[in-house]
Amino acid sequence: MQQERGQWSGRLGFILAAAGSAIGLGNLWKFPYVTHQNEGGAFVLIYIAAVVLVGFPIMAAEVIVGRRARRSPVGAFLKLGTDRPGGRLWAGLGFLGVTAGFIILSYYSVVAGWTLHYVLMSIQGELAVLARDATALQDHFLNEFLASGPKQIGYHLVFMAATVSAVFFGVKKGIERVAKVLMPLLFAIILFLVIYSTTTSGFGDAMRFLFRPNFGDLEASSILEAVGQAFFSLSLGMGAMLTYGSYMQRKSSIPRSVTEICILDSMMGILACVIMFSIIFTFDLEITQSATILFTTLPTVLVQLPLGSIVLGLFFVLVAFAALTSTVSLMEVVSSYAIDELGWNRRFATVAMGVVIGAFGILSALSLGASETLSRLNLFGKDSTVGLFSSFDYLAANWLLPVGGLLVAIFVGWIMAARDIEDELAEGHGRLGWIGPLIRQSLRYVAPLAVGAILFSIIFLGAEYQ
Ligand code: PHE
Repeated sequence: MQQERGQWSGRLGFILAAAGSAIGLGNLWKFPYVTHQNEGGAFVLIYIAAVVLVGFPIMAAEVIVGRRARRSPVGAFLKLGTDRPGGRLWAGLGFLGVTAGFIILSYYSVVAGWTLHYVLMSIQGELAVLARDATALQDHFLNEFLASGPKQIGYHLVFMAATVSAVFFGVKKGIERVAKVLMPLLFAIILFLVIYSTTTSGFGDAMRFLFRPNFGDLEASSILEAVGQAFFSLSLGMGAMLTYGSYMQRKSSIPRSVTEICILDSMMGILACVIMFSIIFTFDLEITQSATILFTTLPTVLVQLPLGSIVLGLFFVLVAFAALTSTVSLMEVVSSYAIDELGWNRRFATVAMGVVIGAFGILSALSLGASETLSRLNLFGKDSTVGLFSSFDYLAANWLLPVGGLLVAIFVGWIMAARDIEDELAEGHGRLGWIGPLIRQSLRYVAPLAVGAILFSIIFLGAEYQ
């Protein structure tokens, strides 16, 4: 029996939930250090090009499929694909997404757990004390906290439990409510920190590093990494946007919503860079330190602000919530699969899948403690050797998501009927004008060629992808 599907309360509900999924550790933590490792300006430009040329059309494609089918990924591709070329094979694309969601959630929740540790430490007043001594904080984070298996597992499991609770209550009551309160607060604190960073001595260098592209510094692998990062940051290629799209009301415009989500997400990444780079240049930090800056150096700066210890605590509360609205979307893909396809009820599906993913994530949590201090400094970096933890990230962000995105683009651009796509885009939008053909042609040519060329160059030309 088909259970009644939830829906967002309106366009704002969808946008905040989808932006909540997109904005997370990918923007606040990963984007700044990947940009740092790839020499700044030119990388940022390529990233923006990837969002516009590949990210925007593929996000539209996912939402089109989701809203048209009103199913989660596996069922959606079955419903729309069965009597088209390729037939029931398209269900495989849905499974790819569920698998990617499973894997990403298992390690993402470990990093998200770190933010909980910081929230707890600031409630106990410890964080402010540690943050006044840069070496002490660094030592605590790298040598004590990351090395402690029980702590890594504990916080990871607590974060999984929080994720399960939010998904447990369903679309409108759980996910949307969390996003509506927290996203605006997050924007406010990020803006506050950006304003503050204009007063630091590294601000000018940061702006030059970020916005003065030097293509001479760009390596082939950076292009590949920019595209992978765009997929990860926009939550694309694994059905999260598809699933959220399946709860979208017919009276909401897809082109408008997708544009706004892409802009919000990119802005958050770039603003996070402005904050982090101002700190990097003020303190003259090494590239190897950029991956842990959010947890080691940033607190030492925040604590010096007026009301520093409160700002510090509030900041980590918000990062934790930004991560939560992302883990919730990963969880939602996996549980809605069990709800729609296996017929489980939402509560059972969520708890059962949550337990399995939580248990699987213990592998990633433990792989941190096993690594040497030096490689821990460079957690997800180019030469990272942190074992399982970074292997999962590498596999998911650089393979599963781009392959998933490529196939979604092909499905919507080549397999679905042109009229269905235009109908769905026009629904809730009104007259489409050139937007319809633009999105469809991008899905037919631009996105598949760009992503295909990248995958081709890695597989056949041996280009390095990270
Ligand atoms: N976009 C999220 C972030 O940037 C991560 C994510 C990836 C969430 C894929 C859902 C799906 O943090």
